[in-house]
Amino acid sequence: MTATHKRKAWKKLQSHYDKIKDVHMRDMFKEDDHRYSKFSLTLNDILFDYSKNRITQDSVDLLLELAKECEVEKWRERMFDGEAINHTENRAVLHSALRNRSGKQMFAQGENVMPDIRQELERITRLANSIRTRQWRGATNQPITDVINIGIGGSHLGPMMATEALHPYAIHDLKLHYVNNIDENHINNTLETLNPETTLFIIASKSFTTQDTMMNAETARDWLLHKIGDESLLELHMVAVTSNTEAAVKFGINEQNVFKMWDWVGGRYSMWSAIGLPIVISIGPENFEMLLQGAYEADQHFRNAPLDENIPVIMAMLGIWYNNFFHSESIAILPYDQNMHRFPAYLQQADMESNGKAVDREGNPVEYSTGPVLFGEIGIASQHAFYQLLHQGTKLVPADMLAPISNYSCLSNHHRALMSNVFAQTEALMMGKTEEEVIAELTAEGKSEEEIKFLLPYKLFPGNKPTNTFLFYTLDPKTLGTLIALYEHKIFVQGIIWNLNSFDQWGVELGKKMAKTILDELADNEMIETHDSSTNGLINYYLKLRTLNPNNN
Ligand code: F6P
Repeated sequence: MTATHKRKAWKKLQSHYDKIKDVHMRDMFKEDDHRYSKFSLTLNDILFDYSKNRITQDSVDLLLELAKECEVEKWRERMFDGEAINHTENRAVLHSALRNRSGKQMFAQGENVMPDIRQELERITRLANSIRTRQWRGATNQPITDVINIGIGGSHLGPMMATEALHPYAIHDLKLHYVNNIDENHINNTLETLNPETTLFIIASKSFTTQDTMMNAETARDWLLHKIGDESLLELHMVAVTSNTEAAVKFGINEQNVFKMWDWVGGRYSMWSAIGLPIVISIGPENFEMLLQGAYEADQHFRNAPLDENIPVIMAMLGIWYNNFFHSESIAILPYDQNMHRFPAYLQQADMESNGKAVDREGNPVEYSTGPVLFGEIGIASQHAFYQLLHQGTKLVPADMLAPISNYSCLSNHHRALMSNVFAQTEALMMGKTEEEVIAELTAEGKSEEEIKFLLPYKLFPGNKPTNTFLFYTLDPKTLGTLIALYEHKIFVQGIIWNLNSFDQWGVELGKKMAKTILDELADNEMIETHDSSTNGLINYYLKLRTLNPNNN
């Protein structure tokens, strides 16, 4: 297998990069009136404008040549066909089957998975409906008012992000809560004001062995027992989502209330499965189906659109362009929608756990840079926090801006002001501010020549900072589903280009194992000498000082 950076298209891209690396987007726009229409695509009402990138038509052509040379299309079909492309775990990668609305069969390593998927979807629909209609009753015959999802990583971020994003669709007399942190502050703060008799816990863990989740689940069980008393009634307050039914039942959850997931769905791609139960409870089954529908439409687009009209492919290849040729290290995700405030965190796991790898599919160390550092926040808030670095710092940080055209009250001044910032920021990042412009501005402000000379270097904006902009009519379930699936496929394509297995996550194992050993060492106050001097020093400092708090021993 030819290493990615030795491919013909890669070499062509390198010489193309040498030619255009210093060309300013200002000039690119000046030279071509059609740049926007040339470099923007739509899918349903989602507009993807990628014209504010440091690309020409040649760049796009060469990037797509690379995608072809790396056989993105072949790998895409292998994924949809349910081959075990997660080769280190011998698993298919079939999150697309979870949102398959075609009525056609889909196979994981030869087995039709659709009947099982439909069955679990019906089961979570029934459960959600019974909670939403107040038919599900707790131990003291009261309806549920609060649902707490206990899970972490993929068993937390998707449902949490989506219920926040779809807040306008949420049922009002039910509150959703999320606990992921093993730090007891999280569960304690959450339980503080809740009534066990009207609270239902969802213990969400694909493995049902994750320490953080299991410890929180036990604390939740104790909290329930304390009030409810009768252990046999706990099943009215706890359900589980897992692929390890046996462990959930052993924990005390009624098998009828254990909802299945499968090994061919990775944790970070699992919000479309029963892991999405909190979403169904919050927004209702019909809206959840629209979320699936949106993702399904993105799957169809990814599968069928030619590469030069294929949004996730273009997103991916632009990412390769900056990561591997401009050597940019990060990417910013900047939603201009308050309800999307957990979207960057969700994508952080999706992207960084998938492509944060340095060994290729053949087990060789890669000789090129792979997954970027993904970070982000709500756009507006970030403008007053880290945009300074985006505009004038020394690093190139490509950014994705996402904004709804209608915000449920689209005539409000707030939304218009918000949108003006989206447009202004992408323009400012691209255009920058030249010496002549700064001088003209300061002169108009009445500054002296001396003052202008002093201020000039600080007031310059180099511009030429790339952004993609997604505009969509409104953040409804379908649009959210489409957006997430587009990013999933972007990550997939990049994994293929970098020749990685994007679907395992061995890198999370080491720390987990070591924490187990250290947990045993924290059982008493014996000084520790088994680690390096720093780790010994930190543990021993902790052991010594924790005695100050008698509860800590
Ligand atoms: O530690 C990482 C991880 O394995 C993620 O990949 C996963 O989403 C998360 O932990 C939670 O795992 P589980 O659902 O098995 O509790």
